[in-house]
Amino acid sequence: MKHPVRVKLEAGEKYLFCTCGNSDDGVLCDGSHKGSTFVPREFIATRTAESYLCRCKKSYNGVYCDGNHAKRESLKLDFLDS
Ligand code: FES
Repeated sequence: MKHPVRVKLEAGEKYLFCTCGNSDDGVLCDGSHKGSTFVPREFIATRTAESYLCRCKKSYNGVYCDGNHAKRESLKLDFLDS
């Protein structure tokens, strides 16, 4: 299961959310997508806080975790991630 990653975000700062899933932490782009068709998703933090960013890439709450990874586990759908 791909749990969310807690990241300290600063209000007004621009971040690049990893959409390929290959970055080291799985949530912030580190350039690992190069050579693929994926591009990072830019977002600006609206508040300074520790936030849980989505790593399963199935959240309906943008870059933020909405708990969908846990729903997938309860339905035993993790084989779809491999
Ligand atoms: S490393 Fe995944 S989008 Fe850049």
